[in-house]
Amino acid sequence: MARKIVIIGSGGRLGAALVRAWRAAGDEVIGFNHALLDIGDFRQVHETLGDIEFDALVNCAAQTNVDRCEKEPEEAMHLNSQAVATIADACTRKKARCVHISTDYVFDGEKRTPYTEQDEAKPISVYGASKLGGERCLHAVSDQHLAVRVSWVFGPDRASFVDQILQRALEHKNVEAIGDKVAVPTYTLDAARLLRPLLDEPALGGVVHLCNAGSCTWQEYGQHALDCAVAAGVPLKGRAVGALKMADLKAFIARRPVYTAMSTSLLQQVTGLTPRPWQEAVEEYVRAHWAARQQ
Ligand SMILES: NC(=O)c1ccc[n+]([C@@H]2O[C@H](COP(=O)([O-])OP(=O)(O)OC[C@H]3O[C@@H](n4cnc5c(N)ncnc54)[C@H](OP(=O)(O)O)[C@@H]3O)[C@@H](O)[C@H]2O)c1
Repeated sequence: MARKIVIIGSGGRLGAALVRAWRAAGDEVIGFNHALLDIGDFRQVHETLGDIEFDALVNCAAQTNVDRCEKEPEEAMHLNSQAVATIADACTRKKARCVHISTDYVFDGEKRTPYTEQDEAKPISVYGASKLGGERCLHAVSDQHLAVRVSWVFGPDRASFVDQILQRALEHKNVEAIGDKVAVPTYTLDAARLLRPLLDEPALGGVVHLCNAGSCTWQEYGQHALDCAVAAGVPLKGRAVGALKMADLKAFIARRPVYTAMSTSLLQQVTGLTPRPWQEAVEEYVRAHWAARQQ
């Protein structure tokens, strides 16, 4: 069913992909990038959303810089927690479904099997706490609104870890990535497909996990990206990714959870869709987008 959908954060990595994919599929999509709508200005949020009609809204806007959040906790709470209450309230007034994008960083990373929606969220950083605060603000407005936790987002609309490691391998022989932190990459084009049915499912409120299948370390993720680039015919100087320990990365300000793989069983049950393995998604991205840009 075609819908009228608002995307906040449409200039970002995930937001831009959702706008493009859903427009192509026939939805009427209104995108607000940062310049058009500042989620930190609550009056502007109410006025802007109050002036338009829509069936569903997806909030992809956030302060996503994990280290900046540690240094600027008030800003983090304002944008990642309190702004979500304002957006959710504006949706409720419109009787529209509100889907808010959250993160695997709500977990402390102490588990060694994939986190489910039932696992307790215990953030270990200001970013994680501010995003968990966003989920709570969302559900304080309505338990019919949905928080969708994603992890390690990559795609063609904004550079991420994959692009950084490939760029490094283009220029240098020595390439390294963290080998003792595990999560699941989420390809934005796959997220668009997996997320779309959730806009039509008014019964599902609460929290759902959404990512590709499997799990990996940053080192394995980077190695696979390099292998895919070589297979696509890109001449790389660096071909092997060495392992770093998270403890050795002195530039990190915020603590990062060491294990945040998420189970997508609930997503699969609700949508009937199965996320593909992260390796296939990375291969498609590297071949069809990154390598294509190198020619
Ligand atoms: N990236 C990841 O690996 C990852 C992992 C887990 C969860 N997530 C979550 O996924 C969602 C999307 O992330 P992403 O990867 O697409 O990140 P992104 O590319 O950084 O997108 C976030 C967007 O929010 C915008 N923004 C920041 N402050 C704003 C404000 N005050 N008002 C309006 N817009 C504002 C940014 O605009 P400007 O850049 O112009 O400021 C940017 O376009 C976020 O909720 C994030 O927490 C991401």
